[in-house]
Amino acid sequence: MSLFRTKDIEAMLAVARDDGLKKVLGPVDLVMMGIGAIIGTGIFVLTGTGALTAGPALTVSFVIAALACGFAALCYAEFASAIPVSGSIYTYSYATLGEIVAWMIGWDLLLEYGLATSAVSVGWSGYFQSLMAGFGLKLPAALTAAPGAVPGVETMINLPACLIMLAITWVVSYGVRESARVNNLMVAVKIGVVLLFIAVGVWHVQPANWEPFAPFGFSGIFNAAALVFFAFIGFDAVTSAAEEVRNPRRDLPIGIIGSLAVCTVLYVVVAAIMTGIVPFARFAGVDHPVSLALQYAGQNWVAGFVDLGAILGMTTVILVMTYGQTRVIFAMSRDGLLPERLSSVHPVHATPYFATWTVGLIFAAIAGFVPLNVLAELINIGTLAAFTLISVAVLVLRRIRPDLPRAFRCPGVPVVPLLAIGFCLFLMAHLQALTWIAFLVWLALGLVIYFAYARRNAVLHNHGG
Ligand code: ALA
Repeated sequence: MSLFRTKDIEAMLAVARDDGLKKVLGPVDLVMMGIGAIIGTGIFVLTGTGALTAGPALTVSFVIAALACGFAALCYAEFASAIPVSGSIYTYSYATLGEIVAWMIGWDLLLEYGLATSAVSVGWSGYFQSLMAGFGLKLPAALTAAPGAVPGVETMINLPACLIMLAITWVVSYGVRESARVNNLMVAVKIGVVLLFIAVGVWHVQPANWEPFAPFGFSGIFNAAALVFFAFIGFDAVTSAAEEVRNPRRDLPIGIIGSLAVCTVLYVVVAAIMTGIVPFARFAGVDHPVSLALQYAGQNWVAGFVDLGAILGMTTVILVMTYGQTRVIFAMSRDGLLPERLSSVHPVHATPYFATWTVGLIFAAIAGFVPLNVLAELINIGTLAAFTLISVAVLVLRRIRPDLPRAFRCPGVPVVPLLAIGFCLFLMAHLQALTWIAFLVWLALGLVIYFAYARRNAVLHNHGG
């Protein structure tokens, strides 16, 4: 049964209070952090494919994906207010479902955050290169993409993707206050650009483009929902900041639910306007659908701003995801499941410096050298698995620790967590078979490492907690 040994919550809270990380973040920082991680490739790139899959009913797909996230977000918020400790769902699972589940979900989060940073860096690189081309600046073809990424073109490395990953790593390693400042600024511009799109685009909507509303029926709507779910990923990263927040019990729920609510409203409106301006079939093969809609409406200047906003938007996604990942690794290492060095804190910057650079270098290399075309689904499945588990864990925590103080309680238990589980499994069922295979291979690898390394080195194994 030691596979399912759990950590003592009070001991975790005591460690978190005295961990050397600076407690500097407030509620606005957290909402901005959530929006920083949420709005990015999903809305600026994937909505084109989403519109082709669902037609104008893409708006409904966004609502379905938002419901799955919303129910899960309420569960996250309860945990974040009850156990404000670094490591997000990894930590919550260790307190409730046991070590092996915690390890597997931590391993799953490495996939989610790691691939998200690399994949979004590649999307960033595409937008960046097209913006530069507008000024007549072109990189040599060899430096534009990973080997084999573009059929018929000799490419060696995606240099811009690699460099943005390294730049972000530097910011994250430098300090959490600085990272939050950089993030807040870019998020403000990103929201401004989305609002600009709405304000300009709404005048160009032709309601006739919304007919027929759902040309591919329910299956089109559900498949698109499973894809655009990607656009919502990120609010969970807010919880990884738990040990760097001044008043975590109150502010974490605000950060999680606030950022998700803002983004849901923006997404549904953007999807409605986009499909109202452009007949959805025109999105075929387009990787910048939002600015395309503005070009279609003859608003080329505004389209240029949207491109710039997309670049900044993706920058903050990489920033917050990198941040989230380093904090999960920090927590796993502190528990002995990963090498100890990964939880060392820099004496001056007060950040997990070694973990940050390890992660940054690995994923910069992946962004530069691995052709990452269709990774969104793999990231989605990893995240949906995490959301399912958090909902199970909230039910378990209510049973095993009803007394634990919770500044925020998920409403409607058990219905809301069960709805979250239902929605997430439903969306997972709409992902491709190949995605499932890749995911299961990743989990199998995780199990091998658990038995070969993590289990024996766990702090609980050696000290019995
Ligand atoms: N939600 C993030 C994005 O859309 C991952 O880029």
